[in-house]
Amino acid sequence: MTDLSNPTRGSATPAPRSAHGSAPTPDEVLASLSARRSFKLKDLDPRPIDLALVDRMLEAANWAPSHGKTEPWRFVVFTGEERERLSRAFGEAYRALNPEGSFAEAGLDAQRAKPRLAPVWIALGVEPSPTRPEWEELIAFGCAVHNAQLMACALGLGSKWTSGAVVTHPIVRRAIGFSDAIQLRGFLYVGRPAVAWPAGERRPIEEKVRWVPTPTP
Ligand SMILES: Cc1cc2nc3c(=O)[nH]c(=O)nc-3n(C[C@H](O)[C@H](O)[C@H](O)COP(=O)(O)O)c2cc1C
Repeated sequence: MTDLSNPTRGSATPAPRSAHGSAPTPDEVLASLSARRSFKLKDLDPRPIDLALVDRMLEAANWAPSHGKTEPWRFVVFTGEERERLSRAFGEAYRALNPEGSFAEAGLDAQRAKPRLAPVWIALGVEPSPTRPEWEELIAFGCAVHNAQLMACALGLGSKWTSGAVVTHPIVRRAIGFSDAIQLRGFLYVGRPAVAWPAGERRPIEEKVRWVPTPTP
């Protein structure tokens, strides 16, 4: 019988690859997770990308877990000239958020210019199930967006989830054709990196974990 009275931290033995067919190794999983980066818009190449790559991102998104298999993620992909629709909507939302005092022509121009700086803009929507807690649906949706970003990284694409007041404004939601039942939680913009892949950083996990009892080394 296993002795549970004295937990120790041993060496983690990786599961054999064959245990899950094509499952990645633990090292591959960690490498994939830690390499994913958010790219500033100015660090992307605005030229078009192969949309088959976006299909792969969406396929990855669709593998997210959801309680009760509600699959609440909804996406609208904007490319080419249709990004002008976003440009106009961002401008209108900026005007609505900045009446008089805080309005600046430069701010308006910056919002309108954003969609032209990345070749693909994916609107991120969540349609919560009426029978499930909203927080569960939001988390499932967040997992889907993360999956899409992990695939973008694997494909060598830069992306970022952008979620400010302008891009999530109801004016934008209506412009992209989301019904009232769908919450617009921002956009994932995607493009080829125009800079070296950025380095990531995190505060140590030890700051965020408590073990009970503390394992002996
Ligand atoms: C739900 C969510 C919303 C985000 N919204 C924004 C945003 O509006 N603007 C922004 O610059 N970054 C945004 N980010 C990206 C974070 O800034 C980024 O993930 C963080 O700096 C860590 O960097 P990394 O993604 O490269 O690891 C968002 C990330 C998440 C998960």
